[in-house]
Amino acid sequence: MARRRIIAGNWKMNKTPSEAIALCAELEDLVKNDNVDVVYCVPAIDIVPVAEAVKGTNVKVGAENFYIEDKGAYTGEISAPMLKDAGVEFVIIGHSERREYFKEDDAFLNKKVLKAIEAGITPILCCCESLEQREMNVTMDWIRLQIKSDLAGVSADQVKTMVIAYEPIWAIGTGKTATSDQAEEVCKGIRELIAEMYDQATADAVRIQYGGSMNASNAAELLSKPNIDGGLIGGASLKADFGQIVNA
Ligand code: 13P
Repeated sequence: MARRRIIAGNWKMNKTPSEAIALCAELEDLVKNDNVDVVYCVPAIDIVPVAEAVKGTNVKVGAENFYIEDKGAYTGEISAPMLKDAGVEFVIIGHSERREYFKEDDAFLNKKVLKAIEAGITPILCCCESLEQREMNVTMDWIRLQIKSDLAGVSADQVKTMVIAYEPIWAIGTGKTATSDQAEEVCKGIRELIAEMYDQATADAVRIQYGGSMNASNAAELLSKPNIDGGLIGGASLKADFGQIVNA
């Protein structure tokens, strides 16, 4: 079954609003491709200007974070309905940087997944393992635990529309990419888990990305694997290389 490819940039804490507008203009022609979903997940303050800058193009806007309540006394936070109203279609949930630096645990991430879906925003649910876990041979146990907890209460029909991103922590921003076989092994394991938790049709529909030092030179090889449907790209999403990844 053919799954539509999805290449998403995770800009992380980079680009001021004016720099963001300039990057959208620089990338506009380079990321044109009707066969792929192209998403820019941008810092909250860039969402409105980026949504304006990509209007009429093939690029969709994503967010990097939000809080689980719809509104109220949560100084400094942004809600899922606010994102939706600003034009956000995707949101990253469970990135290892949020798990580590902001202590977001799986119970909280589960609430975020449910809230994003309720608001009509597609979650890009990230899962990861550390280098120690990989060396101890518990990668798949760890990944399964995260996904099972994060998807509690999510229906098969909802999972079918979701994106899951496998991002080994040791490959993020290190220049050390997982080999395509290592990435495929885990992405395949994730699909098998979804089949186990739901059914084969759900597993066949969910899109699974790889993320971690993906760039213009390794993208084609990673994307050639049967269970890798796209990429979640950090550093290389901030430059012209992103266009090459989209077209890989
Ligand atoms: P890099 O592509 O910079 O390794 O980052 C990957 C990532 O964390 C995307 O979410």
